[in-house]
Parts: sequence; structure tokens; C-alpha cells
Amino acid sequence: MEISGARIWITGASSGIGAALARELADRGARVAVSARNEQRLGEVAAGRMTVVPVDVTDRAATVAAGAAVRAALGGLDVAVLNAGTWSRFHVEPWNSQAFADHLQTNVMGTVHSLEAVVPAMLAQGSGRIVGMASVAGYRGLPGSEAYGAGKAALLNLFEALRGSLGVRGVVVQTVSPGFVRTPMTDRNRFPMPFMVEPEEAARAIADGIARDKAEMVFPAPMMLAMKVARLVPVRAWTALTATLARRGLHGGPSRRAG
Ligand SMILES: NC(=O)c1ccc[n+]([C@@H]2O[C@H](COP(=O)([O-])OP(=O)(O)OC[C@H]3O[C@@H](n4cnc5c(N)ncnc54)[C@H](OP(=O)(O)O)[C@@H]3O)[C@@H](O)[C@H]2O)c1
Repeated sequence: MEISGARIWITGASSGIGAALARELADRGARVAVSARNEQRLGEVAAGRMTVVPVDVTDRAATVAAGAAVRAALGGLDVAVLNAGTWSRFHVEPWNSQAFADHLQTNVMGTVHSLEAVVPAMLAQGSGRIVGMASVAGYRGLPGSEAYGAGKAALLNLFEALRGSLGVRGVVVQTVSPGFVRTPMTDRNRFPMPFMVEPEEAARAIADGIARDKAEMVFPAPMMLAMKVARLVPVRAWTALTATLARRGLHGGPSRRAG
């Protein structure tokens, strides 16, 4: 698709990947609207050249209203990048169902609310594009990622299903699955993060993927290769690997609670 002139809404654009992507798409000539909860940071990202629509995506009604506000401000909508998300490591002891629910409420239901905010209008106009932010963390179960990974696996499945159901109605669905990107989300981590890339590099990969109509964007290449192979590893071997990680406290073990 042609990015120059496209009307694009990005959620989770007050920092990290979303902020870098907003700048990248604006640099490429798109008309961009940015959303997240922190209005001040959104204003800094927008720098007077984007529309700012603050919203908490866990609030269904507010998110639907934000979608309408974006359409009104931009005179319609061509692309919605559903990127808002959160991560913190899950601990199995003490078990914390609320922490699990909080992940799903932001990462899964926040995306579902955002879809409600854009899909009806896109179906009515018979065109549009959803760019959904998942993660390679959704590919396989990893200790410490019980809540985050389960939500991202749900999103991978959701976007794949929508690629069929919305695709036949003229709405393109693209899935983004990054490896590690240096953002406030990963700055807190105290475990090894191989093949880490800067948010600007992630933004370029996503913008290129949008322009080239890629169904799936997985980057960087070494992480794509590693995680595609990981998907093929038999359950017994994966169990042995994740047990080693858990024992060493690299992901979910008890010895590194602070990360
Ligand atoms: N960094 C990585 O290594 C990595 C890898 C794979 C996938 N991802 C995914 O990429 C996306 C962006 O993450 P990031 O790494 O760029 O982290 P980040 O810098 O922490 O950005 C997260 C964004 O989501 C927003 N957000 C969080 N909760 C929200 C809510 N309830 N309502 C509205 N906005 C909300 C945050 O803004 P406010 O706090 O202002 O609301 C922020 O703009 C996430 O979906 C993440 O899962 C990241």
C-alpha cells in the first residue's frame, strides 16, 4: 500500500515501538493519530504534526469513542496499528490471578476494544487495514511469560482468524511479531535478550512490512529463524530446555524476582 497520504491510527504510541513507528510513518508522509494513556508523552511524540487522542484501551467505551474521534480528525481511517501492550514477569509463587487478568485486559481485551473501534467502519467502507502487535513470545510457552505469552498467543490466533474473515470483506490484517526491542518495556528485564534491536529499526521493519502488504512481520532475522525453529522443537525437548531456564532463574525462576 501507499503510506504517503494514508490516515493511520497507532495505539500505544507514547513510547517505545509505537512512538518510533508514529515518527517513521509521519516521516513517510502518513497522516498519523497517536493514542495511549499519557497525554504529555503523546504530545512530545506528536511534536505538532500528529493528532493526539489519549485513551486507556482497557476501557471499552472510551476506546470506541477514541476511534470515532480519530476518524473525525483525520477525515476517515485507512490503517489501525493496534500496538498498546504491557509486560511483567509472572511468578508461580505466590500465584497471582490478578496479574494474569491485568495482562489479558490490556493486551487481549485492549486489542479487542480497539478492533471494535475500527472494524465496523472499515467493513462499511469495504476497505482498511489492521496491523496487530503480537510477539514471538506467543510462539512457545516460556517460564515467566505465562501471562504475557498466553495473551500474545491469543492475539496470534485472533489476527490469523481475522485475516480470513475480514480479508474477504476488503480489510487487510497484518501481524507483527518482534523479538526483543530496546524500549521501556524491556529496560526492566534482567535476563539475556538476544538479537535486541532499537525501536527505530523495529519501526522501519513494520513500515516496510505495511508498504509491502506482508501478512506477517517477524524480526530481526536471527530471532525469526530461532523462533520458527523453536515452533518445531518436540514437546519433550522444549520441556527440558524451559526447565533449564527456570532452574537458572533466566526467565521465571524464583532466584531473580526483581527483573
Ligand atoms: N519491546 C519488545 O521487546 C517487544 C517485543 C515483542 C512485542 N512487543 C510489543 O510491542 C508493543 C509496544 O511495546 P514497547 O516495547 O514499545 O513498550 P512500551 O514502550 O512500554 O510501550 C507500550 C505502549 O502501550 C501503551 N499502553 C500500555 N497500557 C495501555 C493502556 N491500558 N491503554 C492505552 N495504552 C497503553 C503505553 O503508553 P501509556 O503508558 O502512556 O498508556 C505505551 O505507549 C506491546 O504490545 C508489546 O507487547 C514488544
